[in-house]
Amino acid sequence: MTSIPLNRLCKLGPTSMTQATGVRRLCSGVRPHGPLHLGHWAGLLQEWLKCQGEYECFFLIADVQALAAHQGNPGMLAASVREVALDWLAAGIDPKRSHFIVQSRTPELAELTIYLQMLVRTGELRRNTTMREEARALGQRNLYERMNDIHFGFLGYPVAQVADILLFSTTPPRTDDRLVVCAGQDQLPHVELARTIARRFNETYGDVFVEPEARTAPYPELAGTDGGYKMGTTARNSILLTESREDYEPKIGAMFTDPMRLKRSDPGHPDACACFTFLSALGWDVADRDRRRESCTAGEAYCKQCKDDLVAAVDRVLGPFQERRAELAKDPGLVDDALAEGTRRAREVAGRTMERVRDAMHLARPRA
Ligand code: TRP
Repeated sequence: MTSIPLNRLCKLGPTSMTQATGVRRLCSGVRPHGPLHLGHWAGLLQEWLKCQGEYECFFLIADVQALAAHQGNPGMLAASVREVALDWLAAGIDPKRSHFIVQSRTPELAELTIYLQMLVRTGELRRNTTMREEARALGQRNLYERMNDIHFGFLGYPVAQVADILLFSTTPPRTDDRLVVCAGQDQLPHVELARTIARRFNETYGDVFVEPEARTAPYPELAGTDGGYKMGTTARNSILLTESREDYEPKIGAMFTDPMRLKRSDPGHPDACACFTFLSALGWDVADRDRRRESCTAGEAYCKQCKDDLVAAVDRVLGPFQERRAELAKDPGLVDDALAEGTRRAREVAGRTMERVRDAMHLARPRA
């Protein structure tokens, strides 16, 4: 479900990306509010692996954004930052090709956020569908009360996310330059906001930002094992990347499958089944999948067959992943270096962007 066709694929690798086709940059991020799960692996990290050869990639660990919803639990975040980076390394994301960035160590993001806030109305944030969904998840009361009760920083986090994106714009933008945001479907309202703000900024202050475009993964979100709307790190409906078979096997056994199939002889609806989607996302053999689709639709296959296959598929993914992760964890310097080097490169780009932004907004430059 790649929504924006990528017409000029550059096969030359990161160092040659300025030639002929313009500068091709991509950014993406995750909030480190807990260990990563299989939804991240299938929906995001597999897509990042493909992006690595096509763009200069900036991958952000959004610890400040995580604070917006977990302001009372800062200790959890610091530890998570390193765990997330380790997950990325174990999944094959290469810090020599892609930049690992810590949001809180990139002060330009905070500065840009303040400036961009001047261009957004509060109503736009209140109407943002992802914001509403998340506000709802934070509490039991009605949405109107919730929206009044959420913190200022939480209401504003989409603007901070726009800064995460636009900071990596080439500037001044040239027609051939591309700025792509790789994210799940739930992030599309934020990408749309980034496009709106980029246009508004350029109209108000002159051309500074490239208008970003979205790239979504084929499996943007896995449903939770309980059939919940998505697998979440804070919910108990996920399979963590560091989880052992003893933990995930019973979760899969109890997994919610096809809500419309009450007995085996009922015709199944594989595309509405969390288990079937999950299996497809984990690289199920296409011929096997088609065969199962047919027998499920005909009311022949047992859900148990899919669940057994799913346990085997998770074994195949997590076995080698966890081995690599344990190996990499022996050298803590790997994570530290990746974070330091990636953040350094991000700040290099950020410095240039912020100079253009300040000049465009007529903010005074101190005399050198
Ligand atoms: N909001 C994203 C999430 O919840 C994380 C994120 C922060 C992000 N900044 C970003 C994603 C910039 C894409 C681009 O996972």
